Amino acid sequence: MPTPLNVLLVASEAAPLAKTGGLADMVSAYGAALCDAGVAASILMPAYPAALQQVLGATRVAKLSGLPGGDGEIIRACMPDTGLSVLLLRMDHLYAREGVYQDRHGRDYVDNLVRFASLAAAAARIARGVRGIRRPDIVHAHDWHAGLTPLYMKLGGVQARSVFTIHNLAFQGNYPLAAGAWIGVPPELLVPALSDERSIEFYDSLSLIKAGIVHAERVTTVSDRYAREILTPRFGHRMEGVLNAEEHKLHGITNGIDMKRWDPSADPLIASPYCADNVAGKYACKRALQQTFGLAREPFVPLVAIGSRLTGQKLAEVVADAIPTMLARHDRLQFAVLGQGDAPIEAQMQALAARWPGRVGTHIGYDETLAHRLHAGADMLLHASRFEPCGLTQLYAMRFGTIPVASRVGGLADTISDYALEFGKTSAATGFLFEGETVDDVAGGVARAVEAFRNPSLWRALQRNAMTRDSGWGAAVKRYVDLYCELTEARPVAPRPQPAVAPAETVRAGLLPMTASVDHSLAAVR
Ligand code: ADP
Ligand code: GLC
Repeated sequence: MPTPLNVLLVASEAAPLAKTGGLADMVSAYGAALCDAGVAASILMPAYPAALQQVLGATRVAKLSGLPGGDGEIIRACMPDTGLSVLLLRMDHLYAREGVYQDRHGRDYVDNLVRFASLAAAAARIARGVRGIRRPDIVHAHDWHAGLTPLYMKLGGVQARSVFTIHNLAFQGNYPLAAGAWIGVPPELLVPALSDERSIEFYDSLSLIKAGIVHAERVTTVSDRYAREILTPRFGHRMEGVLNAEEHKLHGITNGIDMKRWDPSADPLIASPYCADNVAGKYACKRALQQTFGLAREPFVPLVAIGSRLTGQKLAEVVADAIPTMLARHDRLQFAVLGQGDAPIEAQMQALAARWPGRVGTHIGYDETLAHRLHAGADMLLHASRFEPCGLTQLYAMRFGTIPVASRVGGLADTISDYALEFGKTSAATGFLFEGETVDDVAGGVARAVEAFRNPSLWRALQRNAMTRDSGWGAAVKRYVDLYCELTEARPVAPRPQPAVAPAETVRAGLLPMTASVDHSLAAVR
């Protein structure tokens, strides 16, 4: 049996071990989908305490010394839900903290540069060859936290090839140039970028995302439209010049979702199961959601969900301003808001719930279970965004027959078929897209959806289209594997039946002893 294409995904978060947003969902679901396609995929991420607690079969496999943040060790384990192989970089002085990026007051950890440079350096070391860990053919780094990986691989003379995915260009990991010396970036790569195209200097800073973009063999982002948008000043966050120079290696590949975890016919977290052919159970979910959010228990009123980070990216301050307008315009319209983010917006959402009891319910916080119930119980999802690389919540919503009303940007425009444009022509509409960033733009989008909601047969058609949309990973995996195959001779193998994951009780208890044996088998894969 040939050894399969071996891909190491490098990321700062992966669900369910650590999650602050869609990146974590993408990395885990994509890794599992790669394995299903016969690729030996594993994830390298920091050994946060919550990650160590949740993984199965943890075994110490290697020690790494001399990383930018000191010495570390690699623990091999499996994801508790999918069994996907995960390598945890254990450096307790860097990662044994409550938050992923920030302390409990929302302040970035001051040593984030060293924390994530260490992750990238560990990836490059594994790519070069570490006893006890199979050497990857491809190292696929995600977002700025892993951005130094392709550069360190080059500096280390590593054979493996590198791919870098931009999930959100707004977050770039820019630090003072002088810090380059602490993390082993040679001075010639910190000069003004005009004098050396390999430089990672960016407007007088050093930029981790730029390191990924410039030094990876291929760069991808998470939708086609976003790949085009980021070449322009409006969406480029000042990186458009760099991206235009690297356009020849830039690809947009739209994310999939884990269709099993987000499935209304088999979701243990929701009040009642339902499916595209029979949505009766959705009424029970709506009732339960109204109860949870303190909304009037009326089965036939339009219930709009908002479930996202409450930040400027998500136009959350405009949405909060638009809610009173929409409540006044449509009597009995309801809102269920689940989110956390900027404190003033959180306070505004809470004030709206106090002012409109029974019509606005707000839950400030991060709650995965509630997110499932929100998507199941609502009629519509309001997903406004100034920019949206892909967006996952609209995909989850559609899967649950909850019709998205969203900004016409990035992945939202790529994944939602707008009713006005599509319906009648292709009968493929799955939601409503609106242009613009004002209260009127948002309220206008919702007004169109409320109008359609009044027509039950039209609404059912929209729901059916949305629920039967294929948002799985098939197409994206094929495109990524094609990219990998341009860079390496290694190939996926026909997937084998998955080995059973060791029972939780025997392995959760603690780390197993150190092992130095090289694992050439697929057993560690999935
Ligand atoms: P982004 O990563 O930009 O925040 P995505 O739509 O890609 O946007 O992913 C957001 C993910 O985070 C989704 O899985 C969504 O359900 C989840 N999420 C966001 N806010 C919350 C919250 N307050 N509680 C639970 N899940 C949330
Ligand atoms: C980022 C983006 C979001 C995308 C997610 C997963 O968090 O903001 O649009 O869906 O990454 O790729």
